[in-house]
Amino acid sequence: MSLFTPIKLGDLELRNRIILAPLTRRRANAQAVPSKSAPLYYAQRAGAGLIISEGTCISREGIGDRRLPGLWTEDQVEAWRDVTEAVHVQGGLIVAQLWHTGRASHPRLQTNGEHAVAPSAIAIEKDRELDGEMIPSAVPRALDTDEIPRVVADYAAAATKALDAGFDGVELHGANGYLIDEFLQDGTNKRTDRYGGSVEARTLFLREVLEAVTGAIGASRVGLRISPSSMFQSMHDSAPNELWARVLEVVAKFDLAFLHLVEPGISGSESHRSHADGIDSAWVRARYTGRLIAAGRYTADSARAALADGRLDAVAFGRLFTSNPDLPKRLRDSAALTPPHPPTFYTADDAGYVDWPSLAAEQLLRELESGQRSIEELESSVRVTNFSGTTPYPEWEAAWAISRYRRIQDA
Ligand SMILES: Cc1cc2nc3c(=O)[nH]c(=O)nc-3n(C[C@H](O)[C@H](O)[C@H](O)COP(=O)(O)O)c2cc1C
Repeated sequence: MSLFTPIKLGDLELRNRIILAPLTRRRANAQAVPSKSAPLYYAQRAGAGLIISEGTCISREGIGDRRLPGLWTEDQVEAWRDVTEAVHVQGGLIVAQLWHTGRASHPRLQTNGEHAVAPSAIAIEKDRELDGEMIPSAVPRALDTDEIPRVVADYAAAATKALDAGFDGVELHGANGYLIDEFLQDGTNKRTDRYGGSVEARTLFLREVLEAVTGAIGASRVGLRISPSSMFQSMHDSAPNELWARVLEVVAKFDLAFLHLVEPGISGSESHRSHADGIDSAWVRARYTGRLIAAGRYTADSARAALADGRLDAVAFGRLFTSNPDLPKRLRDSAALTPPHPPTFYTADDAGYVDWPSLAAEQLLRELESGQRSIEELESSVRVTNFSGTTPYPEWEAAWAISRYRRIQDA
C-alpha cells in the first residue's frame, strides 16, 4: 500500500491518498463570492485524491474575516459550480469545508456592527489583524438557547447548497477554535443550559449539527475536522482526554465518511513547538476505527510511515500544496519541492496563488530556454499566451512558460 493506492472514504472514491488540506486564501469578493481565479487554483491541485476547500462560511453571521467565501447565496453557489466543474474535468474530487467562525469574527464584519456569536461571552485572549491593523479581539454575544436551532439549520442549508454547487460532500470545520470547537471545549463554553456543563452537554451542538447535515446530504458524504491539541485562538479544555474520547464515540456513531485530525505541533496555519504534545493520530487510532486522515507537517516519508503502520488512511498536506500545485506528482517522482511563501497566503490577487509552476510548466520553460522548443511553436499551440488567473486549465502551463520566458527575455 502506498500514497497512490486508491481508497474509499464513505461515498468518495479517491484515486490516491494525498489530500489538499483546507487552505483559506482570502481571494473572494465583498459578497463572499469566490474569485475568477479560484477554478484554476483548484484545478491545478486536482491531482490530489481529494480536495478539501478553503473554509467556506455557512452564513453572513459565520464570516470571520475579509474576503472569505460563503455558501448561502445563489451567486456564491454559481461561482463554486465553476470550481467544482474545473476539478471534476481533471478527474478530481472536492468537498466544501463548512465554517462558522463564532467568536473569531468581529462586529466590523457583522451586519450593522452586531456582536459575533459564540457559546459564551468570552473573547480570544489575543489581538487580531483586521483591515491591515492589529486590534483587540471582541467579546462575542452568547447565543440564546432558542437561537441555536437556527444556526444548526444554517449548517444543513449550506451542505445542501454545497451539493447544488457540485461539491462531492462537505467537511464540517470543528477545529481551530471556531464555533463547533468553542461549544466542545470548556475554556469557551460556560453555558448553563443543555449545551454546557458536562462533556455530554458540550457535545450536543456537534451532535445536532451532525444530525442536521447528515440528514440533509447523507453521512457518507460528510467529514469532520478536529484539532484537540491546538491552543490557537486561546483554546483550552480542563479534561481533554475525556472530551475528545467522547467526540470520537459521537463521530463513530454517525459513521461519517472520514474524521480529519490536525496533529499536535500546529497552531492554525503555523507550526508551533509549544503545541507539540497531546492528542495525535496514534491516540485517535487507538480509539477510533473509521476512516482517519490527518494534517500537520507531513512529508512524503512521514506520510508513507503513517499509512504503513495503519495510523492513517490518507494524509492531508497544507502549506506544501500552496507552492506545489502538482504535489502528488512531485511526491511520486521524489521531485524538488518549492518552499511555501507565507507573504502571499492571504493577499488579494493572483500572485502567489495560481502562478506556481507544475513540473510540466517548468519543463516547457527549460525547453524554451535551451532552444529545444521555439516560442513561436509553443504560442501557436495554445489560444492563450498571456498567463493570468483566468487562463483555461489545459493551457495554463504553456501560458505560464510563455509569460515567464518573455519576462526573462525582456529583463
Ligand atoms: C494559508 C493557510 C490557510 C489555512 N486555512 C485553513 C482553513 O480554512 N481551514 C482549516 O481547517 N485549516 C486551515 N489551515 C490549516 C491547514 O489546513 C493545516 O492544518 C496546517 O497548515 C498544517 O498542515 P501543513 O503542515 O501540511 O501545512 C490553513 C493553513 C494555511 C497555511
